[in-house]
Amino acid sequence: MGALPVAGEGLHSQPLGIRIGISALIVVLYIGLLASAAHLVSHFENRDERPGFTLDDVTGAYHGIDSPGLLGTALERGHPETLPVAHKDLLLAWLTSGRIVEDYDSLDLEIPPAEIIDQNCLECHTRAAGAARGTAIPPLEYFDEIKEIAFSRKVLPTPIKVLAASTHAHALALSIQGLVVIALVCMTRWRRRWISPWCAIMGLGLVGDVGGWWLARFSPSWTMCIMVSGAAYSLAQGILLASVLADLWWPRAMEPTVEPVVATKSKSKSRSDMEKES
Ligand code: HEC
Repeated sequence: MGALPVAGEGLHSQPLGIRIGISALIVVLYIGLLASAAHLVSHFENRDERPGFTLDDVTGAYHGIDSPGLLGTALERGHPETLPVAHKDLLLAWLTSGRIVEDYDSLDLEIPPAEIIDQNCLECHTRAAGAARGTAIPPLEYFDEIKEIAFSRKVLPTPIKVLAASTHAHALALSIQGLVVIALVCMTRWRRRWISPWCAIMGLGLVGDVGGWWLARFSPSWTMCIMVSGAAYSLAQGILLASVLADLWWPRAMEPTVEPVVATKSKSKSRSDMEKES
């Protein structure tokens, strides 16, 4: 038995021990991919100070977030139209005072914010109204609910030094991992043109992911690039690994690598064309 796979037979032609070894390591790689996904969610989940894993978590980690709370945003864009300007200014001053909790129902203020909200907002912003409309109207009945959208959000991005350390570890390990997967899949019996798009997706995915970490510093729009690219890298790798596993254990070539030429059909490709493609 030669050192390299027999042409057309793929990795299945290798001795049992080699096939068992490669398969076991692929299983561990799968476990690693799953663990990465789980780690990603738990690691980033709270970056945007809100429960659940969202795009904002990734933006917070790689770009940082500096936005006024939902309450301030709504008031600034003139919602609700029925709110007198004087009241709106009072609420905005309260939100930026740094005394959101202390002054919520403070009688020292001209009108306590609690009272303004009570009189101007509650006709629409009750839990019942939100549920009835089936829309996401934030309830404003209790201070706990108001507090949740009153504070501005400022999330600092991961420090450059930490990002550099993370890139150093990930870029080196993940690229080698990808190269090994491509090397393995190139030894299979599968046609090159079936596997080659997945190799491209995996490679470009990693470039987009790691590159995105740095580009997102300049613009939060790269967050989407990080998410899509990272998913593409993992998905493509998962598929390529599955194809290696299939090649290791599938008994015969599912299809001959070179198909016989049907000479009678003028449309059919010549033998050399097919060899070029596969
Ligand atoms: C006439 C009904 C009505 C009144 C009064 C009203 N709102 Fe709203 N509010 C809505 C509706 C409907 C939405 C959801 C749709 C939207 O974003 O416009 C909403 C959304 C919001 C949001 C979420 C904005 C977002 O971008 O998702 C905030 C915050 C808000 N209102 C604050 C207030 C405050 C504070 C008051 C009182 C000063 C108030 N609203 C009074 C109907 C009202």
